[in-house]
Amino acid sequence: MDKSAKDPAKIQAMFSTIAPRYDLLNKVLSLGIDGYWRKVAVNQMPRTGGGLRFLDVATGTCDVALEIVKRCPDAKVVGVDFSKGMLRLGKEKVQKAGHQDRIELRFADVVSLPFEDNAFDASIIAFGIRNVQEYKKGISEMGRVVKSGGKVVILEFTSLQNPFFRLPYRFYITKVLPFIGEIVSGKKGAYKYLPSSMLEFPGPEELKKAMEEAGLRDVKYYRLTLGVVAVHVGTK
Ligand SMILES: C[S@@+](CC[C@H](N)C(=O)[O-])C[C@H]1O[C@@H](n2cnc3c(N)ncnc32)[C@H](O)[C@@H]1O
Repeated sequence: MDKSAKDPAKIQAMFSTIAPRYDLLNKVLSLGIDGYWRKVAVNQMPRTGGGLRFLDVATGTCDVALEIVKRCPDAKVVGVDFSKGMLRLGKEKVQKAGHQDRIELRFADVVSLPFEDNAFDASIIAFGIRNVQEYKKGISEMGRVVKSGGKVVILEFTSLQNPFFRLPYRFYITKVLPFIGEIVSGKKGAYKYLPSSMLEFPGPEELKKAMEEAGLRDVKYYRLTLGVVAVHVGTK
């Protein structure tokens, strides 16, 4: 993929453009499975312990942050994103769900998180890391802000390994997905970037290595839905 496709300014603009239809597109394009993927990822984080604090990086429209507060009744979540359009919609959803006292939203870039070291019990990023040009720096930052013994969780698409589904999956990703994306979002070319970002992001083994290089230990990953996505989890 052309490196400039991941220019942060372009990524920011793209997400602000598609923000109003983002949730609907997620449901349509993932055939409704995206909620299950986020649940599995959130389940990798600690559930008990008084006053748990979580960081949802690239929170977008806050589905992960909302899943965390549903699962952990005492927990507080800080969600960060660098798209004002996505954050605006996320804020509306948080208020509608009545969780504004438990989910705080902030404008921030993954590669320089505005938090002290060891501030959270876990950090998580769902479908965000593949968009980050300096993704290793992003992983380091997610580790830096987590306490010793805390978890870093990454949910991301993978390039499918299963030989029976690889071709139909590629067809879906490269032809069907941008077509539907354009129709539903009403924005020409808005989803042109998605296929390459999904297919060219490092595979699960390489991502595991990047997490280890960032200082995380016991890194494991789980492939879900025939390997369409993987959940990685590491301990600081
Ligand atoms: C595909 S959305 C995922 C949103 C949400 N986590 C979810 O599960 O639906 C990717 C989000 O990552 C954000 N993002 C991408 N690069 C970022 C960066 N460098 N710093 C902060 N947010 C970023 C985008 O603005 C967008 O909201």
